Amino acid sequence: MNNREYGNRNEMELTFDALSANEGFARVAVAAFTADLNPTLEEISDVKTAVSEAVTNCIIHGYEGKPGKIQIRCVLERDLLHIEIEDKGTGIADVEKAMEPLFTTRPELDRSGMGFSFMEAFMDDLEVESTPGEGTIVRMKKKLGCEPFIEQEE
Ligand SMILES: Nc1ncnc2c1ncn2[C@@H]1O[C@H](COP(=O)(O)OP(=O)(O)O)[C@@H](O)[C@H]1O
Ligand SMILES: [Mg+2]
Repeated sequence: MNNREYGNRNEMELTFDALSANEGFARVAVAAFTADLNPTLEEISDVKTAVSEAVTNCIIHGYEGKPGKIQIRCVLERDLLHIEIEDKGTGIADVEKAMEPLFTTRPELDRSGMGFSFMEAFMDDLEVESTPGEGTIVRMKKKLGCEPFIEQEE
């Protein structure tokens, strides 16, 4: 069954430990979820980069290397991929400032401060919702698929 047979919608959720060992798993899982849309190699690479950046942020900044859970929710709505990546970690006091290119609170870890800029550049839409002490949700959208979407006859 593909998402075209299933009311043009397909959804998945993943919860995993905030370990850098799971970064690769998370990006491949999201990429694999989009396979039915026949995304281009460039689109797959963009999605993987954005997921990696968001998951790394949960591990390094959200949980500061301490144990925690990361949740990813993906929805495919026709050819539009929605991704939500959530942690229940420290949260961000000033989201606008955090999203500025080159801004990092962890220069000592050799962070480039470009994670949000990459997510913004490689995806079509980026929203960050965060509450200090409660956690962070990163929402991204990207239109996928080189083939034009074909409406199915009822
Ligand atoms: N999930 C998160 N939880 C807490 N803080 C975060 C999270 N994601 C990002 N931040 C904050 O936003 C800043 C900018 O993030 P980013 O652009 O990815 O740069 P970098 O990760 O290189 O610092 C981080 O330095 C951190 O202060
Ligand atoms: Mg980052």
